[in-house]
Amino acid sequence: MAILKIARMGHPVLRNPAEAIADPTAPEIRALAEGMLETMVDAPGVGLAAPQVHVPLRMVIFRLPLTELESMAGGEASLTVLINPVLESIGEDMEEGWEGCLSVPGLRGHVPRYTHLRYHGVDLTGQVIDRTVDGFHARVVQHECDHLDGILYPQRMTDMTGLIFDSEMRHVIAANRAKELEARELEAKESEERASEEVEATGK
Ligand code: NI
Repeated sequence: MAILKIARMGHPVLRNPAEAIADPTAPEIRALAEGMLETMVDAPGVGLAAPQVHVPLRMVIFRLPLTELESMAGGEASLTVLINPVLESIGEDMEEGWEGCLSVPGLRGHVPRYTHLRYHGVDLTGQVIDRTVDGFHARVVQHECDHLDGILYPQRMTDMTGLIFDSEMRHVIAANRAKELEARELEAKESEERASEEVEATGK
């Protein structure tokens, strides 16, 4: 299958809820997944949902190291094809993180997502996928599955000052680096002070 055309924000296929897939093992569903994979690799992206290639069906794909251990071992990102997914947040903890979307090109947003997530669905062979994940993995699954309900990440944002151009991310990176440096300097100063207090105390 060739590289598929990606729908961009404003196209109705991204606004409407997608339909459940009756037979996940059907050859046309496998062909769609293959086309989506080729499109995602070409883009390149971490994940893609079927509505993003103008197909209103409940299927998402994503490439992630499945566990922290796997990624520490330098394991290749594994591909997941997730059909008819159901998401369940574990607890109410949320965290903010930067997201981009192939349907919202050139932009990046600071988006709150549930930190801990359980999701289940089936793969292309009809086998059940049931995982409990957190952090970036949880974020990607929430982002992709939102596409199946007609939701794009800007709709999840609570502070629109966090919507910026990709090319301006360097300012965010620079600001984060400055903040880190400041925190490290403060820490060094505090431990120096503690050390001199100890010297004074023993000197008495
Ligand atoms: Ni997206």
